[in-house]
Amino acid sequence: MKIQSSLKEYEVTIEKDETFFVKLREMSNTFYVIDRKVFDLYRELFSEIPEEQLYLLEATEENKVIETALTICEKITEIPAKRNATLISVGGGIIQDITGFVANVMYRGIRWIFVPTTLLAACDSCIGGKTSLNYKKFKNLLGTFYPPEAIHVYTTMFRTLTDRDYKSGLGEVIKFNIMAGIDGLENMEGSIGKLLDRAPETIDRFVASSLAYKRRFIEADEFDRGERIKLNFAHTFGHAIEAVTDYVIPHGTAVAIGMIMANHISGEREYLSQDIIKRSEKVLLQVIDIELPLLNRSIDEYMRAIRKDKKQESDSLTAVLITSYGDHGELSVMHDITQNEIQSAINYFVKLYGEKV
Ligand SMILES: NC(=O)c1ccc[n+]([C@@H]2O[C@H](COP(=O)([O-])OP(=O)(O)OC[C@H]3O[C@@H](n4cnc5c(N)ncnc54)[C@H](O)[C@@H]3O)[C@@H](O)[C@H]2O)c1
Ligand SMILES: [Zn+2]
Repeated sequence: MKIQSSLKEYEVTIEKDETFFVKLREMSNTFYVIDRKVFDLYRELFSEIPEEQLYLLEATEENKVIETALTICEKITEIPAKRNATLISVGGGIIQDITGFVANVMYRGIRWIFVPTTLLAACDSCIGGKTSLNYKKFKNLLGTFYPPEAIHVYTTMFRTLTDRDYKSGLGEVIKFNIMAGIDGLENMEGSIGKLLDRAPETIDRFVASSLAYKRRFIEADEFDRGERIKLNFAHTFGHAIEAVTDYVIPHGTAVAIGMIMANHISGEREYLSQDIIKRSEKVLLQVIDIELPLLNRSIDEYMRAIRKDKKQESDSLTAVLITSYGDHGELSVMHDITQNEIQSAINYFVKLYGEKV
């Protein structure tokens, strides 16, 4: 699948076997940044990479900072290639965010190839070109737009993801499908069991369809000024949940909860029928595994977290809601979300999830 960007055209390939790694190893002037856990799990794939061309990185939010980026820049200065260097990074969204930033600023931009090893990175973040670093207590405050030259998705690697991380990725897969409309929702209802079983061809199919769906938005609005903002469906609430729980709840899971909250508000406003809401919830609840007391925070904390979300442009609360539903979902950026609606959506989710467990 080809992605058009004003910076470059780049391609995502869904790989069937490991031969692409052999091709990558044959390239000259490469420098690898690999998620340490992935390196340990798949040592045989990386065994021939010379030590001086390799940096192993633990995928933690604490490491997603400018200091780590500078350390990697420093390592790259030590290989002879300079501007001809190609950075190859292997890992999930954390590794992607750091290495995309490095590739962008190093010599004002070096070649970058990304191998996403989490479902979340493969189905969502690997395209779109956003790079992000956390700064002080602000998540993703620093960042640029810089897509890789090529993305190789090798879904076989997802079999070693923890349930927590795998289901987090499913949260985003479900998001794209629910946004897409009735067919997407039906697809999800029919395939969620296979996805939970990690059936390889089902994963490949949903990664491809998620990326194809996202591609339309990023190609229409690469720099997140208009149409692309709709991809933030459920994210205002998701980001708040991540923040108030100190990121114990992973991104895609928080987005799944955020979808239930957003759809509840859409239901109260009579934008969305109870039938669609219930059917979506049935799918979503299958990927949400959380300790409910984590959400037991005051409404003030949620409101503070939402206001800090850098996408909130003014005092009024903004969120993307589904505003009508049919062959495709109609999404709108709403600027009039009230504190009462948010409180009601949190209460609603807590009650719903409480009944599940
Ligand atoms: N740039 C973007 O557009 C964008 C979009 C969404 C999220 N993000 C960022 O992505 C990050 C979350 O990324 P993520 O959910 O992909 O995961 P991650 O990078 O946080 O990794 C999650 C865990 O999975 C492990 N792991 C990775 N691949 C594995 C594999 N194949 N087998 C076993 N374990 C593996 C990691 O070591 C880590 O412990 C957040 O920092 C978020 O802000 C960025
Ligand atoms: Zn997301």
